[in-house]
Amino acid sequence: MTTTGGTFARLLDPAVRADPYPVFEQIRRNGAVRIGEAPVVVLAGYAECAALLRDPGAGVERRHATIPMGATPTHDLAGPHAIELRDTVSFLFRDPPDHTRLRRLVSKAFTPSVIRRLGPRITAIVDAALDRAAARGGFDLVADLAYPLPVTVICELLGVPLSDEPRLRAWSSLLARSLDPVSSSAPEFRPDAEELVRANNELYDYFDELTSTRRAAPGDDLLSGLIAAEDSGDLLTHNELIATCGLLLMAGHETTVNLIANGGLALLRHPEHLETLRTEPHFGAQVVEETLRYDPPVQLIPRIVYQDIRIGELELRPGDLAIMLLAAAHRDPSVFPQPARFDPYRENKHLAFGLGPHFCLGASLARLEADIALTRFAQRVIGPRLTCDPPEYRAHVNLRGPAAMPLAYTKILPAE
Ligand code: HEM
Repeated sequence: MTTTGGTFARLLDPAVRADPYPVFEQIRRNGAVRIGEAPVVVLAGYAECAALLRDPGAGVERRHATIPMGATPTHDLAGPHAIELRDTVSFLFRDPPDHTRLRRLVSKAFTPSVIRRLGPRITAIVDAALDRAAARGGFDLVADLAYPLPVTVICELLGVPLSDEPRLRAWSSLLARSLDPVSSSAPEFRPDAEELVRANNELYDYFDELTSTRRAAPGDDLLSGLIAAEDSGDLLTHNELIATCGLLLMAGHETTVNLIANGGLALLRHPEHLETLRTEPHFGAQVVEETLRYDPPVQLIPRIVYQDIRIGELELRPGDLAIMLLAAAHRDPSVFPQPARFDPYRENKHLAFGLGPHFCLGASLARLEADIALTRFAQRVIGPRLTCDPPEYRAHVNLRGPAAMPLAYTKILPAE
């Protein structure tokens, strides 16, 4: 194990955002890294990441870390002098039994069979988005397709009016930056702490108010379901209800958009696969799985070590913060031959949705949305070409993805 975090810190530099993979490769080759003297360990091999994700001796409650950490990443950035932060600790940052209790309340809405029924609605949203672009002339893969689809779906599921979307988008984008390993970065790469606290509190107030509206007039949506659970006894507190809504809203805004955009980018750079997808719609699922491996929308996952854990040569100690670099593990040649190749035909056991008790609740939804969006894109947008390669990227390190992807094209076919 080396004692330098210099290579890791390079990931935070905006200059590597368009292609961080050479840096990930260097970290993986160096083996696990302890950053300076701090109890922070970076894991980059596939077997190590998979083993730690499965290990019951590690969890997500940040108060168990030796380095001082707040209950959520937003708390870390808020600092001791900032305005008071409203409590929005979602079940992503809680261990059992709280995690089990809270996850169970929403998991029924995300089972594969429930999600499959959303297929026709997702296709309709995608076709409407492509129709709008065709009518206007001009197409940006992010603004016209990758973004509107997951955002419309999560708003409809939660019962959030789409007209509130611009405000939600700004809060969500800011809060997503707190998931970056920014506390170790140079100040110029850090998001503004006050802005973050304000976004956290305004999102809290937004759901607080929406809860009152829905309580008076319940709908057939997740928020109304959670309100009924809150009212029916001691299933969840009001703060837990708001934190759950915030988690789902952010997951819907900040992840699938990058999966669709990253998949579109890979297809545009590999026109032979785009052509196969145009003629063989069943290929979509393979394209989505390979995108999840090749350019994962969530690049890293943190854990706090609770007990001594040995993984191969590596000794993890209680209180260590372990950062698992999925984006590096997905390029591990011992598991993925020729890992730098975008190959939708490969056998794919990526870790893009995590593993174990915190396995992504929205995995089926994300897969279905990306499959339909990319397949309809391949079928309806004829002769698409990137006008800017690499595209401009967002500032985010962990939930990394393009900010815009303007395309030239021959025509957009009408929906059948
Ligand atoms: C491509 C899209 C997505 C990716 C790559 C992704 C990835 C992940 C990952 C890696 C985790 C595990 C985090 C950890 O172990 O610490 C996670 C958890 C979670 N995801 Fe997703 N996600 C995606 C889309 C979604 C969507 C669309 C939703 C719901 C609307 C969602 C809801 C959640 C929730 C609620 C958790 C927390 C689960 C728990 O703590 O038990 N995700 N996601």
